[in-house]
Amino acid sequence: MSNQVILTGDRPTGSLHIGHYFGSLLNRQKYQDEYQTYIMVADVQALTDNWDNPEKVRQNVFEVAADNMALGLKSETNLFIQSQIPQIAELTVFFSNLVTINRLKRNPTVKSEIEQKKDKFGAEGESLTFGFLGYPISQAGDIAIVRANIVPVGDDQLPVVEQTQEIIEKFNKIYKQEVFPYPKALLSEAPRILGLDGNAKMSKSLNNCIYLKDDEETTTAKIKVAKTDSHLELTFDEENRPEVSNLIRIYSLVNQISVAEAVKDLKGLNNSAFKQKLATDMNVYFSEFRAKRLEIINNPHLVWEKLEHGRQATLKEAEKTMSQLRKAMNIDY
Ligand code: TRP
Repeated sequence: MSNQVILTGDRPTGSLHIGHYFGSLLNRQKYQDEYQTYIMVADVQALTDNWDNPEKVRQNVFEVAADNMALGLKSETNLFIQSQIPQIAELTVFFSNLVTINRLKRNPTVKSEIEQKKDKFGAEGESLTFGFLGYPISQAGDIAIVRANIVPVGDDQLPVVEQTQEIIEKFNKIYKQEVFPYPKALLSEAPRILGLDGNAKMSKSLNNCIYLKDDEETTTAKIKVAKTDSHLELTFDEENRPEVSNLIRIYSLVNQISVAEAVKDLKGLNNSAFKQKLATDMNVYFSEFRAKRLEIINNPHLVWEKLEHGRQATLKEAEKTMSQLRKAMNIDY
C-alpha cells in the first residue's frame, strides 16, 4: 500500500444517485486497496444551506453512509461524520485568514449554487450567509485535516479543490513548513452524468435521478420515461442530442465498454427497445450493490459501528495534523 491518502465526501442532503456512483464512488472502491482512504459524510457542509432543516440532514447521514458501505468498504477504509471531528472546524478558522471574500465570491461552483438557491439567499444574494460563502474553506479543512493527497470528485467540484490547493500553498509558504501535501483532484471516466430530463445535473430537487437505493421496477420505470428525441437512429452527439447521448453513456458504463462500442451494440434499436435494454443491463449491473445495500439497511448497527471506527481513526490523524499546525503557526503554548 502506498503512503498516499485519499479523502472525499458527500453532503447528506439526499441519498446518492448514479451520477455520484460513476463520478466518484467507483474510484473510492477501486483505490481503497492502494491508498489509505477517508470517506466523509459532510453534515456540517450540508447544514450550510440546510441549517433550518437538521432533521433532513440527520436522516440522510445514514442513507449516504449506507450508499458508501454498499461499495464493500474494507475495514481499513475510514467512513466518518464531519461534525464528529471538531479539529476540522478549528482548521477552518485558521484557513479563513488566507482567503479573501472576493476570491470566495468568484468561485464558480459557489456562484452557481447561490444562484440556484434564490429562495434561501435572495435574488441578488442579499441574504447570503457567511457559512455558505465560506464552505470551500471548510472543505479545504476536510481535505487537509488528514493531509490528503488525492480527492476523487465529480467535475462540478474542481473549483473547490482548486481553492484548497491555493489555501494549502499559501499556508505552507507563510508558515514555512510543508504541513500539508498539495492535493490533486481525481476525476473518473464519467465526471458528469446528466439528469434523465437532459438537465446538466442529476439532482434530487429536479426529480431526474436514478438513486442507488432504487429497486429494479423503479429503475425500469424511470428509464422508460427518460427524455429522448424524435430521431429514428441512435447516435452519440452530446451537443445536439444530450439526452440520448447521456443514456448511451450510461449504457456504456453499466456494460463496461466504450461509447463507440455501445453505439455499435445498439445499432438498429429504436428508443423504446434501447431503453428496455438499458434498464435490463443496469439492473444486472447494480444487483450485487443493491443486495449489499439492503443487507446493510436491515442491519443498521453495521453502519453505526463503521462510523464509530472511522471517527476514532480520523480523530487520531486530525490531532496529529493540528499539533504540526500549532508548531508551524507558533501557537503551541
Ligand atoms: N462538496 C462536496 C459535494 O457537494 C462534498 C464534500 C464535502 C467533499 N467535503 C469534501 C468532497 C471534501 C471532496 C472532499 O458533493
